[in-house]
Amino acid sequence: RLHRIAVIAGDGIGKEVVPEGLRVLEAVSQRFGCRFAFDHFDFASCDYYLAHGQMMPDNWKALIGGHDAIFFGAVGWPDSVPDHVSLWGSLIQFRREFDQYVNLRPVKLMPGVPSPLAGRRPGDIDFYVVRENTEGEYSSIGGRIFPGTEREVVMQETVMTRVGVDRILRYAFDLAARREKKHLTSATKSNGISITMPYWDERVEAMASAYPAVRWDKYHIDILTAHFVQHPDWFDVVVASNLFGDILSDLGPACTGTIGIAPAGNINPERRFPSLFEPVHGSAPDIAGQGVANPVGQIWSAALMLDHLGEHAAAAAVVEAIETVLAQPHLRTRDLGGPLGTEACGRAIAEAVASR
Ligand code: NAI
Ligand code: MG
Repeated sequence: RLHRIAVIAGDGIGKEVVPEGLRVLEAVSQRFGCRFAFDHFDFASCDYYLAHGQMMPDNWKALIGGHDAIFFGAVGWPDSVPDHVSLWGSLIQFRREFDQYVNLRPVKLMPGVPSPLAGRRPGDIDFYVVRENTEGEYSSIGGRIFPGTEREVVMQETVMTRVGVDRILRYAFDLAARREKKHLTSATKSNGISITMPYWDERVEAMASAYPAVRWDKYHIDILTAHFVQHPDWFDVVVASNLFGDILSDLGPACTGTIGIAPAGNINPERRFPSLFEPVHGSAPDIAGQGVANPVGQIWSAALMLDHLGEHAAAAAVVEAIETVLAQPHLRTRDLGGPLGTEACGRAIAEAVASR
């Protein structure tokens, strides 16, 4: 099994944490016998922009479109390139052009990470947020008439297509069916948004009939956010439209601790295009260059990538290694009150992967 990975470190601490992700993948390769071909690219970074006047070369799609996955660090260096230029010129292009219609975020309470939720322990919280990533509330259909006058009218339409809704639901039900609890929760608001959300509910119900082994329920988004905080143990797979998923995919990881450890997948499940795996955090200019960034978010992203590549045992081993290391105070990084730098923490996790 050879997996061809496009590696893009990007800016700031992306350049420090990506090598630790690769270190752990090398350990995976030793132990599980899967092989990786890593191709490194320097575009989608602000340094590239300063040298070339654009974030990526014109043929970027040809350069990375044939890879099995993209392993991404972080992009953005606001002192030299405005954030909307760097983000829209890189990450947003990947998501759109590669039809990465699933945004996947695990929400799992890890040992050693203080949860803002009182009394929760590792094992209590372990679920996924599955966000629709291409349509829904984030459409460009709308406009403003009589601008600047008292008669000003502003509209923006939500767009749901049967293909778009069904494919995200199918992904979420498939994921739930593979998990132990086999439980899916749908985020809705059909009591207030009376056309699109009842449609969403209808498609959930239709899809559920194809997954008799999956137990499912639905909550309106307002009470659902409260349940995330008060009853995070209720959830297994939570599926949501673009806007609701945007909110839940930040709220979930916030309930389980620090930004330094949260991973994300931007996934094209059919594998027609490469999927992209990245930590949730950005380039962290305030700590970049010091070797103190927490590499766990990047390493956990590698685990999500392994899952996507079908290397499920390896993915589970990486998550276990992260848990083993985080459970030991002397192996944590500064943001978690520990003494280790980025590289030492990455080495500890790689060793934990290798030594099982
Ligand atoms: P940020 O996530 O880079 O940093 C926020 C805070 O969290 C900072 O205090 C930082 O030191 C800390 N932090 C982040 N990652 C950490 C880690 N691994 N270990 C320890 N501490 C960590 O968000 P910020 O400052 O709003 O954005 C900085 C730049 O990153 C901007 O240019 C922004 O556009 C970009 N960005 C890029 C993202 C991406 O590539 N997907 C996501 C978020 C922001
Ligand atoms: Mg967001």
